[in-house]
Amino acid sequence: MVEQWKLKVEHIYRSYENCEARVEVLNDFNMEVSYGESVAIVGPSGCGKSTFLRLVAGLDKPERGRILYDGIEINETDPNRGFVFQEPNLFPWLTVKDNVGFGLKARKVFKEKKRKIQEYIDLVGLSGFEEAFPYQLSGGMASRASLARTFIQEPGVILLDEPLSALDAFTKESIQNEILKIWKKNKPIIILVTHDIEEAVYLSDRILVMSDRPGKIIGQVMVGIDHPRDRTSTEFVAKRKEILEILKNKNE
Ligand SMILES: Nc1ncnc2c1ncn2[C@@H]1O[C@H](COP(=O)(O)OP(=O)(O)O)[C@@H](O)[C@H]1O
Ligand SMILES: [Mg+2]
Repeated sequence: MVEQWKLKVEHIYRSYENCEARVEVLNDFNMEVSYGESVAIVGPSGCGKSTFLRLVAGLDKPERGRILYDGIEINETDPNRGFVFQEPNLFPWLTVKDNVGFGLKARKVFKEKKRKIQEYIDLVGLSGFEEAFPYQLSGGMASRASLARTFIQEPGVILLDEPLSALDAFTKESIQNEILKIWKKNKPIIILVTHDIEEAVYLSDRILVMSDRPGKIIGQVMVGIDHPRDRTSTEFVAKRKEILEILKNKNE
């Protein structure tokens, strides 16, 4: 039988030693993501969302269980799984252009590398700021540069850890549209961790709701609305409500 899932998370357990107590962060955590799917994860603070993304990235290892990508167990980082953190984390001594092109390395010929850097700078709406340094950028522009730096690698999996949470509503909406553009271009798997339920419904095919720690998936909402989505439509609002209901009932 052909494997339907591109990414398979099986019975993950991860705990940490904190102040002499063992804190269970993820316990029997399971999920599957198919080819080209965009999935959002919402859940209370501290329930293990970032921990989970780090495991998928290969930055950390589960104590029990495993994560398979294309049928192969993940146990180290790989440029094919890109991570965008909440903080843009740009290199302060490099221009936008050099930050965006940083991961491309010498394996690409100069001309092609230059073309690609420009393509991704344009795609995230930073044209004209190629030579700017991070201290000259607004928060939104730094986020755009940080997204471009990951997207330019054209990874098969993009892990987004609340990348827009520090931004104002207008900037956020505009960058959300850039994320959609990039997703449509290469169709990577996207796993988006967000506190913003509207953002989750706007961007994702499917939303997973997590419980308090130890984090487990307690509900799933399929969005099934064509893009571009109207945030004020009845069906959009109904999806938001469905998620809020699951979160509200999580401890009952
Ligand atoms: N490296 C670590 N060492 C000790 N405790 C950690 C570490 N990383 C996360 N934790 C703990 O794990 C829990 C979940 O953290 P995290 O995955 O960051 O939650 P979330 O992203 O859902 O807010 C928190 O209680 C946090 O203190
Ligand atoms: Mg987090």
